[in-house]
Amino acid sequence: MNTKAYVDQHKDRFINELIELLKIPSISADKAYKDDVIKTSEVVKSELEKAGCDHVEICETPGYPIVYGEKIIDKNLPTVLVYGHYDVQPPDPINLWDSPPFEPVIKKTDLHPDGAIFARGACDDKGQMYMHVKAMEYMTANDELPCNVKFMIEGEEEVGSESLGWFLERNREKLANDVILISDTGMISKETPSITTGLRGLSYVEVEVTGPNRDLHSGLYGGAVANPINVLCDMIASLHDENNHITIPGFYDKVEELSQEERAEMAKAPFSQTDYNKALDINQEHGEKGYTTNERNSIRPTLDVNGIWGGYTGEGAKTVIASKAYAKISMRLVPDQDWKEITELFKKHFESIAPESVKVEVKPHHGGTAYVTPIDYIGYQAASAAYEDTFGKTPIPQRSGGSIPIVALFEKELNSKSILMGFGLDSDAIHSPNEHFGIWNYLKGIETIPHFYKHFARLKSK
Ligand code: BES
Ligand code: MN
Ligand code: MN
Repeated sequence: MNTKAYVDQHKDRFINELIELLKIPSISADKAYKDDVIKTSEVVKSELEKAGCDHVEICETPGYPIVYGEKIIDKNLPTVLVYGHYDVQPPDPINLWDSPPFEPVIKKTDLHPDGAIFARGACDDKGQMYMHVKAMEYMTANDELPCNVKFMIEGEEEVGSESLGWFLERNREKLANDVILISDTGMISKETPSITTGLRGLSYVEVEVTGPNRDLHSGLYGGAVANPINVLCDMIASLHDENNHITIPGFYDKVEELSQEERAEMAKAPFSQTDYNKALDINQEHGEKGYTTNERNSIRPTLDVNGIWGGYTGEGAKTVIASKAYAKISMRLVPDQDWKEITELFKKHFESIAPESVKVEVKPHHGGTAYVTPIDYIGYQAASAAYEDTFGKTPIPQRSGGSIPIVALFEKELNSKSILMGFGLDSDAIHSPNEHFGIWNYLKGIETIPHFYKHFARLKSK
């Protein structure tokens, strides 16, 4: 039976199984959900066993466990390592969800007339990870497995994959592979399939600005002492110039500039600024001068405040000058920026622009390196051929603005390239309220993945 027929025959079960997985709130960022995160790893283990893995284990780490599964059919055949994550983002703000985040429901939308599953993790990444489990089920049940398979599904991606780094260093041999296959990104649209060929890096920091040693009456002291919130706003505002260039000295030194040819190639991807603005309810786009929207959100580095707080934010008014102000800031990085170096440059610069009237502390969080998949690599070609089989079109290579920091580490530690076959849409609201994953996308993913194995085995044996 071919993949399409198998998916058609089993689609109701595939949907229901995913719904069960989505009911467990595996929020890695919040310790209150620890038992649920662990329970999810156990469910993933049993699903991998059911899908035909010969050996599945829960690998303990200093943090959340990694689920490892494998089916080795012939040492002479190539090995595909599937990576995904079973943890999800916190669902907050809960009141903006139309249905509870861990009670999945199927609803139709304009872009998903066949329905989409609404739940936290539906697209990022439980739904996309589970496509691989179902593709494995198809291949083992129909004797269509042309490669060895290893699964490595982690539970800390949304909080920086720290334990996975630890695990990689200790298990290089066990994880040895010819290619890494990941579905944790998106594609342009159902009509225009694309394969993600780049991820941005990341440097995440928190800053703290301290003014007076206690909160003050804003009448008695206002005007005479520095207000840390005012100062923090000034400092943050100064991080971009009038062209929206980032002002940190040295920030752009290692940024790879794309050639005019490469930029022209990028510009061929279908895109409507009007539709983009309309989808976000904005009157005008915004960004670095000299670059298009798609360049700004993929090949250019950024600096954004992710959260800012301090002072009184409760009901009504309170006249106060706070002692402290805080912000969380992310910088998305591109090849060949080094995240540790950028974090240092940020720290040095941010401390240097602080006025004498306040104290500033910069606390680095996590980070990661950008990644690019070359399109002349056979893994990319296998993926491209797989999409041709199921979409009837050659997919467009597209660099994404998101980050999966572990992918660059895979290259360093395991010496393998990653293929990013994402089936989500930008409108799926990952990390936002009402996250969803189109049923069409989910089933198309399951249908396409086995074709990748087939083409990879074929191209590898050439
Ligand atoms: N799956 C996303 C990354 C992603 C989504 C890349 C869509 C490209 C397209 C991943 O789970 C994620 O959210 N990554 C974080 C970084 C991580 C260190 C928390 C991100 O990009 O913010
Ligand atoms: Mn993800
Ligand atoms: Mn995510």
